[in-house]
Amino acid sequence: MPPYAFFKKQFVPLAEAKVGILTHALHYGTACFEGIRGNWNEEQKQLFLFRVKDHYERMHKGCRILKIDPHYTIGEMMELTVKLVEKSGYHEDVYIRPLAYKSSEVIGVKLHGLEDDFLIIVATLPAYLDADKGVRCRTSSWRRVDDTMIPARGKITGIYVNSALAKTEANETGFDEAILLNHDGHVSEGSGENIFFVLGNRLITPPSSDNILMGITRDTVIQLARSELGIQTMEMSVDRTELYTADEVFFTGTAAHISPVIEIDHRPVGDGKIGKVTGELQRLYFEVIKGKNPKYLNWCTPAYSKLVQSKRS
Ligand SMILES: Cc1ncc(COP(=O)(O)O)c(C=O)c1O
Repeated sequence: MPPYAFFKKQFVPLAEAKVGILTHALHYGTACFEGIRGNWNEEQKQLFLFRVKDHYERMHKGCRILKIDPHYTIGEMMELTVKLVEKSGYHEDVYIRPLAYKSSEVIGVKLHGLEDDFLIIVATLPAYLDADKGVRCRTSSWRRVDDTMIPARGKITGIYVNSALAKTEANETGFDEAILLNHDGHVSEGSGENIFFVLGNRLITPPSSDNILMGITRDTVIQLARSELGIQTMEMSVDRTELYTADEVFFTGTAAHISPVIEIDHRPVGDGKIGKVTGELQRLYFEVIKGKNPKYLNWCTPAYSKLVQSKRS
């Protein structure tokens, strides 16, 4: 069975989903996207799509910023996603990439007076960061873009040039990931992850005003820490040197899951091993996203109806 895409209002084999070379979004980064995980539960032979409604709510907000008509309601986008995943028939973890984009084939930098379209792709995604071993980071020489430049609260494709510059700089200088500071020097986030600090019995994470993407995994962690571990999260600005003195640091993101940071700028974080709070949160989180914790099943949308379970492995 070939992988499918939802493209131009229909399900087509991925190989047939092509855009023209004049497509506005290709030239000017005028699109917003999401990354949604489908997590395979082997015992139940089920793929659970995690917090899919929240992802589409964020996408709708991004579309408002970019003046994109998303064409579909949040409910319709959810239904299309379930159909696409079911049709594709994976029996393993998947990554779903919806994209709402300026589809006019025209030259000219603007947002208004253009056509829009919406597509969805489903694929597998190799481990993004090493969540078992931990991640070695550097502070990036690139600053996180400000809300007055490209709004960070939208998952806007053009903004990812900022992330790509930081990620490549980190990798090419021997690190796994970058930590970006904002324009006034406070810690913002990773190239594709939010960041948390453990200080004693407190969790700290930068607020939206420090130009972060308001991550869905970030929100999941805040809720799990409060309800399951009795740990409150403080949303507050963090100085660069606090990166060096925290007991534990970890990243959160749909692609990155919860990834412990074990070293920053050649300084070990804590004792340089995965911390206790990070480990506990990882355990809880992986249970929840695979639909194994009944308390959080409302976050998990099953992709397969019980009767139709196709196979791709
Ligand atoms: C820049 C950036 N920050 C944070 C995140 C984490 O967001 P989420 O947990 O919703 O995936 C992502 C990934 O989507 C991202 O690209």
